[in-house]
Amino acid sequence: MSDQNLAVILPSKGSRLEVIHRPTPTQGPDDLLIEVKATALNPIDCYQRDVGFPPIPAYSAVRDSDTGGTIISTGSSVSSDTPKSGTRVSAFAPCFYMQGAPDYGALQARVLVPAVNAAPIPQGMSFTKASILPAAVTTVWYGWHTIGLPCDTAYIAADKKGMVVWGGASSISSAAIQIAKLTGFTVYATASVKHHEYLKSLGASKVFDYKSKNVVASIVKAAKEYGVTTSTGFDGAGQWKECLEVLKELKGEGTVKLVSAIPLKEDAPKMEGMEVKFVSAPADDKARTEVFTSSSMSGCRRKESLCRVRRSRWLREAWRMQTKALDELKRGVG
Ligand SMILES: NC(=O)c1ccc[n+]([C@@H]2O[C@H](COP(=O)([O-])OP(=O)(O)OC[C@H]3O[C@@H](n4cnc5c(N)ncnc54)[C@H](OP(=O)(O)O)[C@@H]3O)[C@@H](O)[C@H]2O)c1
Repeated sequence: MSDQNLAVILPSKGSRLEVIHRPTPTQGPDDLLIEVKATALNPIDCYQRDVGFPPIPAYSAVRDSDTGGTIISTGSSVSSDTPKSGTRVSAFAPCFYMQGAPDYGALQARVLVPAVNAAPIPQGMSFTKASILPAAVTTVWYGWHTIGLPCDTAYIAADKKGMVVWGGASSISSAAIQIAKLTGFTVYATASVKHHEYLKSLGASKVFDYKSKNVVASIVKAAKEYGVTTSTGFDGAGQWKECLEVLKELKGEGTVKLVSAIPLKEDAPKMEGMEVKFVSAPADDKARTEVFTSSSMSGCRRKESLCRVRRSRWLREAWRMQTKALDELKRGVG
């Protein structure tokens, strides 16, 4: 294998990305070395390039987390259920947690990824589609963790547990719908009308137009008619006030727990019986690994049906187009 590895680097905060050759990363005992076939971008990638957050103390950095590729080799200490060399995997490259450590950024031909951050790609799914999954899926599981919902939650229909997902058409909320459905919730989602059938195909029980004046009342009515207790919510659109109005009506005896994928401004409520939290990754490596391991990148290992996160998110293997791709993402691809 050639030691030359094509990579997209960020030379300094806010600068244009450059394509260079750098050495192939040297694998640690718990790592996989992956040949990257596709990467996907997230809003945080624009933010990190432009604002330098999450922090990058040392440049040049190789960024981006979402990748689909093939395992070249596995570290000496990986567990026995780790996918073998040659397996196609969807993987979360953890440069965010490693101050932009160049070996762990997805924008290179060969990347290092801790073995627990990778899951086999279901048969028939392309690398490009698989590359969309990691950040969105992981963020949802981190959201569950943030509000104390265990990864092994498994309700059955008779439990009549509901979840509200706001902004269901976003990549992150479309993952939330599927994971909520897999964990047994009856899902009430909001989106523009053009996305309603799509969200139902992902597992939403009912979908509502968030632009309608009656959206809160309509969700409450539907959930009450079905008799579900709905005290949990996922907000992927910064509409926590509306989410809380719904949950307040439907919570039964329980405490409302709402997790927001959008940073909360200072006016976020602090009300008795209501917790609203910004999704956050567990602070220490061990806890993060536990969430990764128990969720196993969710659908890929746990159930092969979790495959569909909004299609417009991915920009295929565009090594030399990354600056343009990030700028395009910043303008909005929804
Ligand atoms: N992607 C990730 O992994 C990730 C991780 C952590 C945090 N986040 C944050 O989550 C937010 C969403 O990111 P994303 O990547 O999922 O975005 P995205 O896929 O670009 O989502 C855009 C969609 O959001 C919906 N939307 C916008 N405003 C809305 C509103 N007021 N009410 C309901 N829906 C609304 C629109 O749906 P309609 O077309 O139906 O109108 C639009 O299509 C961003 O702020 C991002 O920083 C994302």
